[in-house]
Amino acid sequence: MASSAGSMCSGGINEVLLKIEDLRVWFPVKISAFRRGHVKAVDGVSFTLRERETLAIIGESGSGKTTLGRAILRLVKPTSGRIVYRGTDITYAKERDLKWFRREAQMIFQDPYSSLPPMMPVYRILEEPLIIHGVRGRERRYKIIMKALEDVKLSPPEEFASKYPHQLSGGQRQRVAIARALVLRPRLIVADEPVSMIDVSSRAEILYLMKSLQERYNISYVYITHDIATARYFAHRVLVMYAGRPCEVGPADQVVKEPLHPYTQTLIEAVPEPDPENRKRLRNVPSGEPPNLLDPPPGCRFAPRCPLAVQRCWREDPPMIRLDSDRVVFCWIYAKK
Ligand SMILES: Nc1ncnc2c1ncn2[C@@H]1O[C@H](COP(=O)(O)OP(=O)(O)OP(=O)(O)O)[C@@H](O)[C@H]1O
Ligand code: SF4
Ligand SMILES: [Mg+2]
Repeated sequence: MASSAGSMCSGGINEVLLKIEDLRVWFPVKISAFRRGHVKAVDGVSFTLRERETLAIIGESGSGKTTLGRAILRLVKPTSGRIVYRGTDITYAKERDLKWFRREAQMIFQDPYSSLPPMMPVYRILEEPLIIHGVRGRERRYKIIMKALEDVKLSPPEEFASKYPHQLSGGQRQRVAIARALVLRPRLIVADEPVSMIDVSSRAEILYLMKSLQERYNISYVYITHDIATARYFAHRVLVMYAGRPCEVGPADQVVKEPLHPYTQTLIEAVPEPDPENRKRLRNVPSGEPPNLLDPPPGCRFAPRCPLAVQRCWREDPPMIRLDSDRVVFCWIYAKK
């Protein structure tokens, strides 16, 4: 099991909102006319998220971040493990029993160009979830929608309410997507690379906005990203993933300053910095590709690229090593001899 950090947000240690235990998502696929297999997209991930906390999930393309985010929200079926939300096990709950959860837990998608229906004005886009979740009264809905537009700084709200997505910039569309999540007063938002497809100049503003909404409305975020710099700014803790498996979990600042897992060290060294001195460090990135998730090798999945791999890394799964209450790493080099 990975970390369950005692996250200190303002006012002490907050209650646990979400507990993920040894979660696996294997996609059944047809390999040939006679062979079937599974893409092991998420393969044994655990973490705890507290109220008003942000956990960043970092990893390169194909490491299982989106699948994990979707599984948390029960948008994809888990293969095994447990998802416990506010004390209720929702892992295999039927859709009809998930209505309350669907209201409290929202997703913000990566692509603001495809995540909003193009034929609807913003007002209808924001009204739809309210109608689905039984918020009665046009006037009441109007007030909620105007407030949400103000909250995401689309002002004047009446003007933005009548616009269509194609009349908005990428940053404005992502604000509408955030407003669509906000109208239901969510406790949990899974944000899947929410700023990666918008203008660089708007990224910091959107993250700042999400952070201020967290404080105002007690929202917890699972923030999926490739970008360590934004994770450090935006998240309290970080979970690093490689090929469906966890590598390490810890406070964002510590993971960035002192990465423990060789893969995290690689990721952090790969961040290009303007300082020419740092370009030398890019040469240290081990070459190679992540393993095929249909048939991953035994042992540590990072072994083929790991400069520190020893024999047992190729045979046995690395154990979970807890270094302190807040810091967990999955790597043989930290195991006691
Ligand atoms: N429905 C599916 N059926 C089969 N394989 C899938 C399915 N969805 C995802 N995968 C595979 O699962 C693995 C993890 O994919 P996922 O999209 O979760 O990665 P990611 O970390 O979000 O990548 P990116 O950073 O590119 O968004 C990939 O190998 C992907 O091809
Ligand atoms: S378990 Fe072995 S191969 Fe995997 S990261 Fe640690 S040292 Fe490298
Ligand atoms: Mg993804």
